[in-house]
Amino acid sequence: MLPTAEDTHALGERIGRLLGAGDLVILDGALGAGKTVLTKGIAVGMGVTGIVMSPTFVIARVHRPATPGGVRLVHVDAYRLGGRLEFDDLDLDTDMTTAAVVVEWGEGRAEQLAADHLLVRLTRHPDDTRTAELSGTGERWSRLAEEIAGAAAHRGA
Ligand SMILES: Nc1ncnc2c1ncn2[C@@H]1O[C@H](COP(=O)(O)OP(=O)(O)OP(=O)(O)O)[C@@H](O)[C@H]1O
Ligand SMILES: [Mg+2]
Repeated sequence: MLPTAEDTHALGERIGRLLGAGDLVILDGALGAGKTVLTKGIAVGMGVTGIVMSPTFVIARVHRPATPGGVRLVHVDAYRLGGRLEFDDLDLDTDMTTAAVVVEWGEGRAEQLAADHLLVRLTRHPDDTRTAELSGTGERWSRLAEEIAGAAAHRGA
């Protein structure tokens, strides 16, 4: 359960602390579900610089690590993109070697970037609360998805 935007941000921070180069996180959920709020938390968890915003004209934004040895965050909003072909035109494969990539509206478009990835599905409820459903593909993300969800449950979230 994510009653407030702060809870969604905190979930993002937990995910962000786990991210390294080559990691792919796909965010799914309707308009206003909280994908950008979650990404703001991921950026804080990763310790990257710059304000994460909903890009209106920019499809991909790069956030640099605040400390040497940190990993870059590439934040993509695929909402305005057509299908997989337009997504492939972004050439994110090269970024994947040095950055973690988070893709809003990435489901059905971004999976080919990394066979192993985390999918976070955000749902907005009539009372304006949100819930997150985490599903990991591959051994590492299956384990981490359970760990993150378990930690949230433990905190009573
Ligand atoms: N529990 C919650 N989790 C996340 N956001 C919340 C929550 N409750 C209220 N909000 C508000 O809902 C809005 C979510 O907006 P956000 O831009 O993160 O959505 P989005 O999924 O990225 O939308 P879009 O599809 O337009 O990119 C914010 O204004 C945030 O403050
Ligand atoms: Mg957004």
